[in-house]
Amino acid sequence: MSLLEIENLSVAYGDLFAVREVSFALDEGAVFVLLGANGAGKTSILRSISGLVPARGGRILAAGRDLRGLAPNQVARAGISHVPEGRQIFPNLSVAENLTVSFLKERTKETMAAALAAVYELFPRLAERRRQAGGTLSGGEQQMLAIGRALMNFPKLLMLDEPSLGLSPVLADLVFERLATIRSLGTTILLVEQNATCLELATGGIILANGRVVLAGTRDRLQDSEFVRRAYLGV
Ligand SMILES: Nc1ncnc2c1ncn2[C@@H]1O[C@H](COP(=O)(O)OP(=O)(O)OP(=O)(O)O)[C@@H](O)[C@H]1O
Ligand SMILES: [Mg+2]
Repeated sequence: MSLLEIENLSVAYGDLFAVREVSFALDEGAVFVLLGANGAGKTSILRSISGLVPARGGRILAAGRDLRGLAPNQVARAGISHVPEGRQIFPNLSVAENLTVSFLKERTKETMAAALAAVYELFPRLAERRRQAGGTLSGGEQQMLAIGRALMNFPKLLMLDEPSLGLSPVLADLVFERLATIRSLGTTILLVEQNATCLELATGGIILANGRVVLAGTRDRLQDSEFVRRAYLGV
């Protein structure tokens, strides 16, 4: 059974269909990428999985259970964490407060301490700055904070919406490197990107255009495609 299976998902805002009958599936351990240009429907797919926008049609199955109709906190309890587009950290809260604020309430003090320690180990820079206000971090540090916050509930699936956006190539590579580490520690990844260098760490994915899947396959298949070469690598 797939960890996540999307079947004929459609998302619409009024009459405008942002996502049209999109299907894909992720096995445990995958780094699955959704690539596409601005407006392709990438964020809408992640938001509908998280319960932030309703699906207009199709099914969203997590280990066989349909997530449609669940509230965002119920989706989080099902083991799916979402690093939103634009990071959305709380600028006036400290790094430590940003990390603990979305911690699910039924967890114990001990699990919170363990989660914080795991995040600080992955991102030592956050540990050094644990008392600093989130809004005063650099762009790269804010992205790490957003990822760290999503990891606090030990998700089975981590979804990230353009984590490399606005970062220098060096910092973007660092973020992708950390994602590879997170995956090696046992978390499956669903990665939305426009930056095709993320294919380096992908196991497979899809390319979206105007809300539809235009290509699906393994990393090699995506990397070799005319579409990626032209649209993303500029060759
Ligand atoms: N809340 C909304 N109300 C109306 N239309 C929306 C809304 N959110 C998104 N759309 C439209 O849906 C389409 C897909 O948007 P979406 O944000 O999913 O694309 P995206 O692939 O994430 O783009 P980007 O790379 O620019 O973030 C776009 O045409 C957008 O204008
Ligand atoms: Mg988007």
